[in-house]
Amino acid sequence: NESEIIVKPVAGRIGAEISGIKLSDKLDAETIQFIREAILKYKVVFFRNQHHLDDAGQEAFAQLLGNPVVHPTVPAKDGSNYIFELDSDRGDRANSWHTDVTFVDAFPKFSILRGVVIPEAGGDTVWANTAAAYETLPTELRNLADQLWAIHTNAYDYAALRYNISPEAKKHYDEVFTSTLYETEHPVVHIHPETGERNLLLGHFVKKFVGLSTFDSAQLFTVLQQHIIQLENTVRWKWSAGDVVIWDNRATQHYAINDYGDEQRVVRRITIAGDVPVSIDG
Ligand code: SIN
Repeated sequence: NESEIIVKPVAGRIGAEISGIKLSDKLDAETIQFIREAILKYKVVFFRNQHHLDDAGQEAFAQLLGNPVVHPTVPAKDGSNYIFELDSDRGDRANSWHTDVTFVDAFPKFSILRGVVIPEAGGDTVWANTAAAYETLPTELRNLADQLWAIHTNAYDYAALRYNISPEAKKHYDEVFTSTLYETEHPVVHIHPETGERNLLLGHFVKKFVGLSTFDSAQLFTVLQQHIIQLENTVRWKWSAGDVVIWDNRATQHYAINDYGDEQRVVRRITIAGDVPVSIDG
């Protein structure tokens, strides 16, 4: 039966592939609810062979999941309302661990990413489960994390972390990605508004922890961040053009592997508006 929906976990703690759904179809409320529940359960879901989904189709589907929001500093792709395009030829390579757009108070809840041009080999993306990371922390570290708040800013965007970035790509980031600087404080542990799970909230936009020196922040950040990206908490996806991946941005971090040299890689993302994260103290 071609229309049978199958959900197949891809890794032990995070990620499932969903087949039997064509995202360009007029999807009913039940199917959208099914997808939403799968995102909450698996944190990231993968759909193969969605070639029929163009920019307008991706936007129409996104609207079924919530309210799309444009990136705070990067204008939507020409001819679209909400699409954020990452093109490696322009230097867009998201190869450091992050949760999308955490430098604003209410950062996106979901991200929907479509593979448009995919290298012959390489360019995989890896996601990490930040709820599993919290759950598997030793109690002493959990107690410490529970009390911490972190300052997130786009001045710490991933371009700043890439040692081999070209001068053109650096200029592009300075002019576009950090054209307006944002800074906000988030609890390091937040309660997911839908699952109730505790999640670690860190990633590459973190500048420092509130009340700690830059030096102490850096050491502590490494300890906690390393727990998040422990391989047991991750899933790795080998893209084909036409794949669509949706993740719960409140329960994950991700990293786009930059191992494809001069080949082109183009992906298009739409983010869905989220809420201000809630700490364990409410
Ligand atoms: C992103 O960071 O949202 C993009 C990830 C990717 O390029 O695979």
